[in-house]
Amino acid sequence: MSNYHIKHLEEYFQVYRKSVRYPEVFWEEVAEEHFLWRKKWDKVLEWDFTKPEIKWFQGAKLNITENCLDKHLYIRGDKTAILFEPNNPDEEAQHITYNQLHERVCRFANVLKSKGIQKGDRVVIYLPMIPELAVSVLACARIGAIHSVVFAGFSSTALSTRINDCQAKMVITSDGSYRGSKTIDLKGIVDEGLEDCTTVENVLVAKRINSDIDMKSGRDHWLQPLLDNAPTECAPEIMDAEDPLFILYTSGSTGRPKGMLHTTGGYMVYTAYTFKNVFQYKENDIYWCTADIGWITGHSYIVYGPLANGATTVMFEGVPSYPDYGRFWEIVQKHKITQFYTAPTAIRALAKENLDYVNKYDLSSLRVLGTVGEPINEEAWHWYNDNIGDKKCPIVDTWWQTETGGILISPVPFSTPTKPTYATLPLPGIQPALMDENGNEIKGNSVEGRLCIKFPWPSIARTIWGDHERYKNTYFSAFDNKYFTGDGALRDEVGYYRITGRVDDVIIVSGHNLGTAPIEDSINEHPAVAESAIVGFPHDIKGNALYGYVILKETGEVRDRDNLRREINQLITDHIGPIAKLDKIQFVPGLPKTRSGKIMRRILRKIASKDTSNLGDTSTLLNPEVVELIIKDAL
Ligand code: WTA
Repeated sequence: MSNYHIKHLEEYFQVYRKSVRYPEVFWEEVAEEHFLWRKKWDKVLEWDFTKPEIKWFQGAKLNITENCLDKHLYIRGDKTAILFEPNNPDEEAQHITYNQLHERVCRFANVLKSKGIQKGDRVVIYLPMIPELAVSVLACARIGAIHSVVFAGFSSTALSTRINDCQAKMVITSDGSYRGSKTIDLKGIVDEGLEDCTTVENVLVAKRINSDIDMKSGRDHWLQPLLDNAPTECAPEIMDAEDPLFILYTSGSTGRPKGMLHTTGGYMVYTAYTFKNVFQYKENDIYWCTADIGWITGHSYIVYGPLANGATTVMFEGVPSYPDYGRFWEIVQKHKITQFYTAPTAIRALAKENLDYVNKYDLSSLRVLGTVGEPINEEAWHWYNDNIGDKKCPIVDTWWQTETGGILISPVPFSTPTKPTYATLPLPGIQPALMDENGNEIKGNSVEGRLCIKFPWPSIARTIWGDHERYKNTYFSAFDNKYFTGDGALRDEVGYYRITGRVDDVIIVSGHNLGTAPIEDSINEHPAVAESAIVGFPHDIKGNALYGYVILKETGEVRDRDNLRREINQLITDHIGPIAKLDKIQFVPGLPKTRSGKIMRRILRKIASKDTSNLGDTSTLLNPEVVELIIKDAL
């Protein structure tokens, strides 16, 4: 039996049982056999969910980039590590070998050092999906700097909030980015964001679109000349297993984004282990995950997990609809992709288009298909299975979160029989529990509840940067001694899990987590707005779309409603980004509230989804009359 590579269902059950009975032995064996450590750990695991404190491989020393790069140089130095597919199909793809990637990371790491970046410093990376993004992430890890990648679709305000929260010393960006037929002025967004930041000393600028941009003297530096002059070797900083690796921000149901902190050793072990098993990666495979490195999926399953396994990982700069809706499938054929990992929202969007876009291409290289980010509906699952996988490729519906660092529930392809819309079984080391409203665990099968995890796994986030109390309150206070995911789930008659969606005020739109509070705060900044509430409603492609209920101030002034709607969406775009724009905005005389003043979102959700037959008991509301008025004018 191999702990590291599961090949059939019996083996999965054996490995799983061992991982639950003897978790420390299990993870110790995995860690020992497959990674390069400068010094072994003194203790495999120490944990206490009440504090909460979780430490894996304490006392061990390593550098994750030695595992992702140096380790491979002798055996596969000339193998492609990163295969870069540009936005424009006429631009040639780049094959960056492990040798070349190693050199580029070392040069970049030396540039960071020459600009004063040291172990523990925070570096914010705001780049499009170009090789420099992966290189800069690894360069930070090489010298022990903590990277915080901010998705390059976020606005300048969202960027500056994150820079200020982690007190970043440096920003790495580009002169601009390509997105389909558009170009985006990234550097302009950075300049605007930095007006509100005092900690950033240097900005490194990669050239991508050759636009004429302002460079602030003393602060902004073109990257290429610095790289050209940098030494090609950079000794890795030797890190403790529990030293921070990166911060990645994710939305919460309230307040500011949460900077989830991931540490080095456990994150490496878990992402590498799950990559190997969930994608059944083999040496000559060409693996493609279409996510952006600005999200956790890109961190764990474009960069760290694949590279730790010596894989070839594709980075795609563009969008699925450019130059036409066949782009994904054209790339699959061109590079003979073996594993393809994407989001349900992309599948739904492509399934709406003519099948000729798919049938034109030879997809026979594919072996495993994956989805992540939100529940996949049955129709999309079958479309993916029939038309992309030709019914021959298992679909891994992978459930996990920014906070979990890696995939927790997923089929192991060719072992676990798949079932549409089910993430199926927990991976080794993962102990799920379903909880009822009173805090009791619901045992047995054919049950539904709130999804918790009872035991730590190596890549769980260790804290929220600068706010351990919030970490405790958000994840460890709802249920005693358990990590609470914020998701609801059901367990069917054979023990398979199906994730039913968020049970808090996070709404997932096109696979992006959006908290209601920051959107409402943006709306409320409009001078005409008194109060607002956001809910999600079902949408064919996005999964959920946003519906805003807005109360206007009573000024007696008559205002153009459509104009107001545009202004409100502009405010949201400025504060967060276009992904958070509202599809519908209804102006209402009031919002249904409980006697303690809490907005009853349940009622608003029902109205938004046009499901008003059973609103439940509204008589306990402070203002029951407002419900009828809202329904009358619902959009
Ligand atoms: C949702 C993305 C159903 C879930 C890796 C979770 C899913 C949130 C699935 C985390 C799935 C993710 N099926 N729902 N396979 N995968 N989710 O932090 O609600 O961007 O809590 O991490 O996405 O989103 P995040």
